[in-house]
Amino acid sequence: MDLKQFVEQLEQLASQAEQAFLAADSAESFEAARIEFAGAKSGQLKAIQKQLGSLDQADRPEGGKKLNEAKARIQAALDQATERLGGEGGKARKAIGPMVDPTLPGASFHLGTTHPITQTIEHLKEIMGRLGFAPVEGPEVEDTWHNFIALNIPEDHPARDPLDNFYLSVAGATAIDANASEAKLLRSQTSTVQIRVMENQQPPIRIISLGRVYRPDEADMTHFPMFHQMEGLWVEPGVTMAHLKSVLRMFATSYLGEDVTIRFRPSFFPFTEPSVEVDYLWNDNWVEFGGAGMVDPNVLRAVGYDPEQVTGFAFGLGVERLCMRRHRVTDIRDLFRNDLRFLHQF
Ligand code: PHE
Repeated sequence: MDLKQFVEQLEQLASQAEQAFLAADSAESFEAARIEFAGAKSGQLKAIQKQLGSLDQADRPEGGKKLNEAKARIQAALDQATERLGGEGGKARKAIGPMVDPTLPGASFHLGTTHPITQTIEHLKEIMGRLGFAPVEGPEVEDTWHNFIALNIPEDHPARDPLDNFYLSVAGATAIDANASEAKLLRSQTSTVQIRVMENQQPPIRIISLGRVYRPDEADMTHFPMFHQMEGLWVEPGVTMAHLKSVLRMFATSYLGEDVTIRFRPSFFPFTEPSVEVDYLWNDNWVEFGGAGMVDPNVLRAVGYDPEQVTGFAFGLGVERLCMRRHRVTDIRDLFRNDLRFLHQF
């Protein structure tokens, strides 16, 4: 082939390509033109390029130059068409609409939810709020004054045993001294918050406190070394046991339903006198939900109140047990395994 023929072919090809790209009005026609003229394997430009080798040695530089010019023209036409159709290759498809079939069934998107215990806490706050109890918070790391002493639990009381509590080790000490004044522990009950509130406020007091407590219990279907309690405290002149029973009954029917049966059993706590345990009837079994009673005069004195002037009641209920009863959860451990198949049900 001579140079003249070679250049003519190039000219012709470039013009054809320019026209084809100019005429392209869809992703399909654009793609067809691209393959025909600029395709890496079977494109016409490629075919002509192969003939460069058959030119006379002397003509080859000129042939190469013309080839590059034709290439540049074709590329420019391609670029213009790309832009006109809305972006490069993939984007050009937009010219004919998105490649999504809106009639196909989709997979649902599972949004996260709050944990069942968090939901329960919110619910309990809402019910108690209607009865006039304001929520307050207290620390989870406590000193022995708030966890025991002010609650009328003396030094030799078994509830203070290191085996029944999570004491924190004191820097420099070789063994845990549960009775050391600086001893700290993960609170074993939310009754600590009663003391903290009464130390800082004068009656009337009507609060609840919901939060974690810790006890070194073996985990089984009904026990876990960390769980939540709802503490309630109402202190003001004239509060009686009748108020306590009414509040707990109203709370139980609000949370569990009108048909719940509730029972108060005489019991003992160092910080209440008299004391009761609160049971709800569940599946024909009595289940203990917590303790309650009239605030012991010693506790009122410990926070500087005059037991001749004010009386009060307190209660502490297990949040997990309430949640489990309402949602028919039978194993407390399910609440803390974080198995999404379980959690997605709430
Ligand atoms: N703090 C007690 C417990 O953890 C419950 C309780 C609270 C009892 C308030 C009486 C009054 O078991």
